[in-house]
Amino acid sequence: MQMHIDKYERAWIVAVTIILAVFFASLVAGAVIYGVRPTQPDGFINPLMLDESEFANPGVRHMGGNQYEAIVMAQAWQFLTGEVEDGVPVIRVPAGAEVTFRMTTRDVIHGFMIEDTHVNMEVIPGHIGSARETFEEPGEYYFLCTQYCGRNHQGMWGKVVVEETVIET
Ligand code: CUA
Repeated sequence: MQMHIDKYERAWIVAVTIILAVFFASLVAGAVIYGVRPTQPDGFINPLMLDESEFANPGVRHMGGNQYEAIVMAQAWQFLTGEVEDGVPVIRVPAGAEVTFRMTTRDVIHGFMIEDTHVNMEVIPGHIGSARETFEEPGEYYFLCTQYCGRNHQGMWGKVVVEETVIET
C-alpha cells in the first residue's frame, strides 16, 4: 500500500526542513565564523563561602582615576550595596565615574538592571557577574531585580546616585 501525502503537507515538510537547516547553519556559522559563545561569568565563587569573600563587605571602592568598583550582593529579597538611604540600597558615585559592578547571589537567581544604561545581567549562584558603565550625568538611576525570585521580588530595587562632585585622583 502506498502512503498518501497531501501536496500541502509535502510542501510544509519541505519548508520546515529548509527552515530548520537554515537555523542550524546560522548557529554553526555564528559559532565558527563569529566566535559567538554563551556569556561567561567573571569568575566562580562558593555560595557557602561568601562571608569570607569581598561580598562580605559590599560597597563602592575607588580604584584610582575615574575607576570605581561596586561590590553588590543579591539575596532574597534585597540588594546589599553597603549603603542604605531611607530604607533603599544606594550605590553612590561621582559624575564621570566608570563603575564596574561585581555581583553574586547568596541564594537563588536574581537579575540586575539599571535604567537608562546597558547594565542588565543575570545574577547566578556560584557565579561572579560583572558589568561596566560610565555615569556622566548626575542624577538617580534606579536598578531592580529582573528575575522572579519569590514573594518579595518586586521589593528588590535600589538606586545609583551620581553626585555632582569632582573626582579626587
Ligand atoms: Cu531578586 Cu527578583
